Amino acid sequence: MLSVVPRPVTVRVPAKINLHLGVGDLRDDGYHELETVFQAVSLTDEISIVPADTRTITVRGDHAAVVPTDHRNLAWAAVDAMAAATGHTGEVAIEITKGIPVAGGMAGGSADAAATLVGLARLWRVEPTRDEMYAMAADLGSDVSFSLHGGTALGSGRGENLMSVLSRGEFHWVIAIAGGGLSTPDVYRELDTLRRNESLSRASHPDQLMQALAAGDPRRLAPLLRNDLQPAAVSLMPTLRRTLRAGTDAGAIAGIVSGSGPTCVFLCTDSDHAVDVAAELSGAGVCRSVRIASGPVPGARLVDDDR
Ligand code: C5P
Repeated sequence: MLSVVPRPVTVRVPAKINLHLGVGDLRDDGYHELETVFQAVSLTDEISIVPADTRTITVRGDHAAVVPTDHRNLAWAAVDAMAAATGHTGEVAIEITKGIPVAGGMAGGSADAAATLVGLARLWRVEPTRDEMYAMAADLGSDVSFSLHGGTALGSGRGENLMSVLSRGEFHWVIAIAGGGLSTPDVYRELDTLRRNESLSRASHPDQLMQALAAGDPRRLAPLLRNDLQPAAVSLMPTLRRTLRAGTDAGAIAGIVSGSGPTCVFLCTDSDHAVDVAAELSGAGVCRSVRIASGPVPGARLVDDDR
């Protein structure tokens, strides 16, 4: 008998960087109130999903071995959410190919969850409304909504309430990936500790930054990049200070820790400039690897979908 191998549904999903990350006080629910400007950039994960007898997750790519393949993987929770919403049993084989740094503050886990929601909707031929998709995403994690959304957006609440932000042209980034990872809850906790012991300045509303994005002007954007979590990430991983310095020494017009870190991102004036900065930074030996990326790019999208 001929057995038919089902064709996988494949979804591509981008990493995020925070151009602005203003962190407010700790809320009663354990989250911090945020005001953040996200940009989706061209480092991507690819997720393939096929029906199976039991649920499995396989992870390939850089640092794949440290990514959990059970219920601790946010993609697993995304299957639970979509199965519960649609009455499916959730028996699928998921293959994740990582292009987004693992535990790097670029929303890699959130990206995989968002991609899983999009892929399952296609595989099971269900059509959740936009509001239903975003509600599931928000329940899964603070950054999952932006991984669905992509582009450039202003996030509030714990980061899940999004408004699109006008961004003209392409911005060019050099990404420095650190040797180890940082845990997001640890970085937020460190910020609370630092704030108790010393007075740290807090980001104000990112009006000017949004104007620089609308103008498509990297030189105007450069001095406006801001991350309230940066002192906490640097406090937990002091070598980041050296990485940040090396990026600007290499000619970047600005550098910042991405989200909760430890990945650092460096703004360049154009794509040639990014190639130069990346080459120089690679030689400085201050990080595990260096990549080039541009943004904004779309959120989680089906690849070659001709079903
Ligand atoms: O929502 P997510 O599971 O990605 O958040 C991971 C952790 O990061 C939370 O448990 C919390 O400790 C911290 N966090 C926070 N405030 C936010 C987002 C995340 O304190 N707005």
